[in-house]
Amino acid sequence: MPHLERFSIAMNRDLLRKFDQLIGHKGYPNRSEAIRDLVRNALVEEQWTRPNEKLAATVTLVYDHHTRELAERLAEIQHQHGPLVVAATHIHLDNDNCLEVAILRGQSDRVRQLAELLIAQKGVKHGRAVYTTEGQGLW
Ligand code: NI
Repeated sequence: MPHLERFSIAMNRDLLRKFDQLIGHKGYPNRSEAIRDLVRNALVEEQWTRPNEKLAATVTLVYDHHTRELAERLAEIQHQHGPLVVAATHIHLDNDNCLEVAILRGQSDRVRQLAELLIAQKGVKHGRAVYTTEGQGLW
């Protein structure tokens, strides 16, 4: 474990109470662990807004497979960006809806553009990208 430094934080009592409730609901063992996660999230988020970072992302898409040519269009877009798409999987949620998850990896601006392009396709009912990094120095 790396060397730990202690520091104190001054916080409005109501805000601290809400924070304690939140981390209790989430199951954090203590405030330190929760604050470390918040700081890492902020640093990862900052990293993926920079254009030339290496990052990985998962893109989750829910769409109606009856929507004309949408499944083909999503596959076509992924083929066009082949080197960025590490893996993709698809399950049939119910009679109408498909859930697709694509794992992307590469240069941050290209990964972000591809994720946004997939999510923006007409007929995608819900789309969400989660970006992360290899975390050099973050953990
Ligand atoms: Ni399906």
